[in-house]
Amino acid sequence: MRDDMAKFKSDEIGPWSEIKLEIIEKYAAAYTKILSSQQRVRLKYEYIDGFCGAGEHISKKTKLPIEGSPVRALKVDPPFNHYHFIDLDGQKTDYLQETTKGLSNVTVHNGDCNELLKTKILPGLTFQNYRRGLCILDPYGLDLNWEIIEMTGKSGAIDLFLNFPIMDMNRNTLWHHQEKVSAVNIDRMSAFWGDESWRKVAYVEVPTLFERENEKTDNETIAKAFAERLKKQASFKHVDYMPMKNSNNAVVYYLFFASQKPVAKDIVKDIFSKYK
Ligand SMILES: C[S@@+](CC[C@H](N)C(=O)[O-])C[C@H]1O[C@@H](n2cnc3c(N)ncnc32)[C@H](O)[C@@H]1O
Repeated sequence: MRDDMAKFKSDEIGPWSEIKLEIIEKYAAAYTKILSSQQRVRLKYEYIDGFCGAGEHISKKTKLPIEGSPVRALKVDPPFNHYHFIDLDGQKTDYLQETTKGLSNVTVHNGDCNELLKTKILPGLTFQNYRRGLCILDPYGLDLNWEIIEMTGKSGAIDLFLNFPIMDMNRNTLWHHQEKVSAVNIDRMSAFWGDESWRKVAYVEVPTLFERENEKTDNETIAKAFAERLKKQASFKHVDYMPMKNSNNAVVYYLFFASQKPVAKDIVKDIFSKYK
């Protein structure tokens, strides 16, 4: 552990997050292997981590430091051509800047990834420009805007891992009594989902003795509808996802994967199957 780790409040991560890190790491290794072996065209492939953290966490299980997604990505061999690491927390980006000092193929950005991805990083990363990307969007909760997800899909050039924070949704927005949910939480949900159509997915009308009532649907129905959105609205051709559960068997979030390539889908299916 580095002395300066004490400068930021490090995240204690549960076993489900350790599994997520292993899955992304395995896919990243397969990804660069395949892209680096393409002979026909010279592609430039980049790693983009929108909610990257400091690169180091504490494991809840062992209480020891454990590498986060950006540090794991840097160890992938063959390497990506470029790495974009983004985090809103300046102490975390300072720490990561120190970790990556001297690496000319790394850019650490401090700021809101919704803004930075939209204005600086995603424009230009297109299929036509011979650029490709593996993008990780791993927020704690509903801190991501749908337009970013849509941009990754419509680029035609990006494979995406996405944390779909169902626990945050259930805790703060998808309540039985919808009228009691705050406007802020409704807006966060709509910003993540892209519009208000989540209402139709999350609730079904059921007849009761005297009138019809809205009843909440289950997590799986909501995840399935989001998978459809990734295909229909964001133009991803292939989508897969798996539930990440805590020790009480409750789903903390769904880890989504979306891509344009059937081979990518097959690789992730195989990786997911080892953890399901
Ligand atoms: C779940 S952690 C990421 C962990 C990391 N992907 C890993 O597995 O090692 C979420 C991170 O998002 C950052 N964050 C929160 N809102 C953000 C935003 N709007 N833009 C960029 N980063 C944000 C937090 O500071 C935190 O470090």
